[in-house]
Amino acid sequence: MSLVDQLQTLKTAAFGDIQTASSTQALDELRVKFLGKKGLLTDILKGVSSLEVSERPKIGQVANDVKTEIQALYQEKLGLLQTQERDAKLKEEAVDVSMPGYVKWTGLRHPLNQVLLEVQEIFQKLGFSVKEGPDVESDYYNFEALNIPKDHPARDMHDTFYLKNGDVLRTHTSPVQIRTMKAQTPPIRIIVPGKVYRCDTDVTHSPMFHQVEGLYVDTDVTFAQLKGTLSHFLKEFFGQDKKVRFRPSYFPFTEPSTEVDVQCVKCEGHGCNICKRTGWLEILGAGMVNRKVFESVGYDPDVVTGFAFGLGIERLAMLKYGIPDIRLFYENDKRFLSQFGLSQSPLVAAMTAPTPAMPLYPSKVQVK
Ligand code: DAH
Repeated sequence: MSLVDQLQTLKTAAFGDIQTASSTQALDELRVKFLGKKGLLTDILKGVSSLEVSERPKIGQVANDVKTEIQALYQEKLGLLQTQERDAKLKEEAVDVSMPGYVKWTGLRHPLNQVLLEVQEIFQKLGFSVKEGPDVESDYYNFEALNIPKDHPARDMHDTFYLKNGDVLRTHTSPVQIRTMKAQTPPIRIIVPGKVYRCDTDVTHSPMFHQVEGLYVDTDVTFAQLKGTLSHFLKEFFGQDKKVRFRPSYFPFTEPSTEVDVQCVKCEGHGCNICKRTGWLEILGAGMVNRKVFESVGYDPDVVTGFAFGLGIERLAMLKYGIPDIRLFYENDKRFLSQFGLSQSPLVAAMTAPTPAMPLYPSKVQVK
């Protein structure tokens, strides 16, 4: 077969193959096969050297034409296949923008922590700072130094968990009063949040619960300041419209002592099942620090005076949010917990603000 015929045959074969190529990859393989350095066209042109010199330009011309035509068809087909492949890819990776996104579950502050933060915020604005103490206490700090000697009837009220060595799981946060006064000199203005333990359980009692203790010691602290501070706190927490009342009471570590009630949050004082028909809710215990307590920490009770108070966080949360059973706080049921995500307090709101929604799992679609 003459070289010209060979070139024509090559062109026909190349055209046939290129037209039926089904992918850019297959097309590229054809380009290499026909036009590549070691391709069929090169093979044919090797025969040129055996031709008469005068015939060479003509064959060269034909070969060039064949090459140009194949290249042109190749380019055309390449454009077509690239478009097809891109369309297919877009179709496969189509994003349905109307589909709901993956919403990330953001944790919310636990209702007890939320209430605790609210309490802390109110007192911090009055200049109180936050102190903590150990859960395992000696008998001395939990009772003795707080003027609750052995065999004192007040010990019965505490349903204490005793450790083998005579230490106790603290029954209240009051021992941190003693620890702080022994470590610092007045003025002292602290609140003490923490876990406390009592061997007691029913719908309103749990063997572990949380208290906040408060202590203010300086020269000339008065009962009027106690009343003002605690009234302010209760109104900030429960609402400015709520009435507050102080009843005489007894605690070994304060003298005089008082229990502080707030007008019932549910019935506004008319009487209901929450306030046991009294119209009032008992919220906290308080009083002027007993001289004996000052003596046990080495303060001179003729020079300093102070007031102290203690309240239960669970009780505050149950009353504020109408929660009927204390065990709900510890069961970690998301249906319960997710109801307490937001708070009026800007501080708490800022800390619990939801983060922008983002996919929880990597999307199937790879965005390049
Ligand atoms: N510690 C008491 C209790 O757990 C609460 C209490 C009452 C604390 C009066 C005080 C206070 O500081 O002055 O029942």
